[in-house]
Amino acid sequence: MKLFLALVAFFVSLVRGQVPHWGPCPEPDVQPAFNLKQFMGRWFEIARLPTQFERGHCIETNFTFRTDKSIRVVSSEILKGEVRKIEGTGVIEDMKHPAKLGISYSYVLPFAPYWILSTDYVNTALVYSCTDILRLFHLDFAWILSRTRTLPQSTIDSAMQTFANNNIDVIRMINSNQQGCDKEAPWSDDQLL
Ligand SMILES: *[C@@H]1O[C@H](CO)[C@@H](O)[C@H](O)[C@H]1NC(C)=O
Repeated sequence: MKLFLALVAFFVSLVRGQVPHWGPCPEPDVQPAFNLKQFMGRWFEIARLPTQFERGHCIETNFTFRTDKSIRVVSSEILKGEVRKIEGTGVIEDMKHPAKLGISYSYVLPFAPYWILSTDYVNTALVYSCTDILRLFHLDFAWILSRTRTLPQSTIDSAMQTFANNNIDVIRMINSNQQGCDKEAPWSDDQLL
């Protein structure tokens, strides 16, 4: 039964355009002494491993604290000329590993890993998410985030190198489109979908 479910997950991921990798998740280093407060705020997506659930352009994520100190995560994109947003919740699951966040976009979904591999808080952040399927294979996501809509190619190259040094396969990473985004009408936080 377990093997059957693993096979189903494998083929679903293929159909969704993700390439599952054989073997368990890599165990990358994460940002030492991660400072969540400094990480908060607005991050633009510069590059990503292809994912089914993000297909628009001008993708960004805004991290803020709710009054109850939980982390509010609002991701937005422009798809077919419309701003689409989803709101999720972030948590630090184990205070011993503060850079290993979990994010869930729905009450019914478990927290997916959202690991900050490295960040200087003011320019870039490298984020990785990996899920083991029975340690037979794994599905992963990786993102290069930036405080600005563009990054110098040299910064992108060194980010790719950091992923590769941690055994993360980023050959299929694609650049996100952040062009023409600031021409759109300003949107407000309460048009959540
Ligand atoms: C980020 O979220 C905060 C809190 O809801 C809001 O005040 C701020 O305007 C948002 N920033 C952006 C760029 O959306």
